[in-house]
Amino acid sequence: MFQLTSEQEMVRLMAGDFAKKELEPYARERDKNETFPAEVIRKMGDLGLMGMMVPPEHGGSGAGAVSYSLALQEIAYACASTAVTMSVANLSTEPLLHFGNEEQKEKYLLPLAAGQKLGAFAITEPDAGSDPSSMMTSAEEKDDHYLINGRKIFITNGSYADVINLIARTDSQKGNRGLSAFLIEKGMPGFSIGKKEEKLGLRASDTVELVFDDCRVPKENLLGKKGQGFKVAMTALDSGRIGIASQSLGIARACLDEAVNYSQNRRQFGKAISSFQAIQWMIADMATQIEAAYWLTLAAANQKDLGVPFTKEASMAKLFASELANRAAYKALQIHGGYGYMAEYKIERLYRDARVTTIYEGTSEVQRIVIAREFLGK
Ligand code: CAA
Repeated sequence: MFQLTSEQEMVRLMAGDFAKKELEPYARERDKNETFPAEVIRKMGDLGLMGMMVPPEHGGSGAGAVSYSLALQEIAYACASTAVTMSVANLSTEPLLHFGNEEQKEKYLLPLAAGQKLGAFAITEPDAGSDPSSMMTSAEEKDDHYLINGRKIFITNGSYADVINLIARTDSQKGNRGLSAFLIEKGMPGFSIGKKEEKLGLRASDTVELVFDDCRVPKENLLGKKGQGFKVAMTALDSGRIGIASQSLGIARACLDEAVNYSQNRRQFGKAISSFQAIQWMIADMATQIEAAYWLTLAAANQKDLGVPFTKEASMAKLFASELANRAAYKALQIHGGYGYMAEYKIERLYRDARVTTIYEGTSEVQRIVIAREFLGK
């Protein structure tokens, strides 16, 4: 347990204030119309929310992972779609920060971290989801470039991203050691945007297919060493999982507040339904589990800030917070009864938005693999 610093408290307040003004009033409409709020995302960049774990010398705000988690919780409370956009933008700075050379940091990390450009992270393929080491997108080495062929799916921020961290196969014989990371720029010849997904939730976030057809990428855009791609991806996902835990927490807190508010106003059998013990216990369970998820998430973020390993802690936080977001959404909707099933009530959107949190950036089952391995070995 630790005390938040005054800077961390300030970041939380700033993000909360922004979310209340710029996100909350429009979230329902954006969800309904599948509108990606490009202008709002730019404003968030100006506020330093897109490079929170990147030091100022590389264009970031240097706020750290704890502040990042606090900010993301506030954003997700108001609009979970915007939260995943922010989470993936921050995630996409991690490979560059940890594996990029000075030229790559200058050219790509700086504008991403400063929020002048938007980033994405492309790993998933139609036949490679939980098992990225089976991916097929190929990067063939030619004279001064790589030729990339294949397609990636479910890519958050894909059609708006200026820079994409791509993991592709450079050696077909070497399994996960045959993967390498590349920096792809929007507009590179042979790179195009494919199908846009229509989703159950997070409908104001951008999720698309990326298509590579003899896409020519200069050799200097290899990120890290050849064969290091799997490690690059796993390192980024460790931080990404703190992001999704934080997004889940924001959703769960919103569910709790909706449940409290509705139960105090809804009257049945002559009194507010909050006076029934069945409702009180649901609220009490939600609040207790939110508190547990909060500290689990901040502990993982704090370890990252301290520079100590946090893979297990990030997976625990992601597992617990995402499962909680779904339980909280289920219970809060139950408290709303029939009204909760209607789009007019915020809980209907929260229920849909919560669903993917136990799936992306590693399913709950993958998180359990990661956690169990820390105790049992591989
Ligand atoms: N950090 C650094 N290196 C790591 C690592 C980590 N967290 N985890 C593993 N590695 C290294 C290992 O040390 C190992 O290196 P060596 O070969 O040198 O020993 C190498 O990577 C291979 O590791 P494993 O043998 O453990 O790999 P595995 O094939 O057994 O897979 C897994 C493990 C945990 C299941 C992993 O495949 C995984 O996390 N899968 C889920 C993928 C995922 O999360 N996809 C999400 C897509 S992105 C997304 O959703 C973004 C979005 O849009 C929101």
